[in-house]
Amino acid sequence: MDGIEMVNLKAQYNRLKPEIDAAIQGVCQEGAFIRGLQVSQFETNLAQKIGVKHVIGVANGTDALQIALMALDLEPGDEILIPAFAYAALPEAVQLLGLKPVFVDVRENDFLLDISDVENKITNRTRVIAPVHLFGLTAEMDALVDIARKTRFIHTRRCRPEHGL
Ligand SMILES: Cc1ncc(COP(=O)(O)O)c(C=O)c1O
Repeated sequence: MDGIEMVNLKAQYNRLKPEIDAAIQGVCQEGAFIRGLQVSQFETNLAQKIGVKHVIGVANGTDALQIALMALDLEPGDEILIPAFAYAALPEAVQLLGLKPVFVDVRENDFLLDISDVENKITNRTRVIAPVHLFGLTAEMDALVDIARKTRFIHTRRCRPEHGL
């Protein structure tokens, strides 16, 4: 019996092969390897789908995290709450910007941020709560936005419009 892989990219590829092959061929034929038509179409489509003014394509998730944090004008030593269980990219970006990571417990049943521990970890140096959505499940955004609103130290600028911030 074959082992069960954590992520089976080949199975995902095989399911969408004709579509993916055609898209890759389109990029090669156009020679548009950086910010080509496909990227701008993706940006426009995603912006429409999630109801925001701007979507900016970047090279990978790690860059996206770093750029989003840079846009908040944080200062070295500012505290950012991050889940104790997630991918290493978030603490890496935090470290690169000289911010102080404060690890928050996750729930045993779904590994998402434990809201009660978020409240425990907030100090007057907390500037950001960075939830991570995992395994197709989303963190409790409404509760997190409520906490951020109550806590005047936390940036509430440049957040998603549906949260009214
Ligand atoms: C939760 C999470 N954040 C960030 C990243 C980083 O993304 P990338 O590998 O594209 O830099 C990953 C990658 O798997 C991730 O799972």
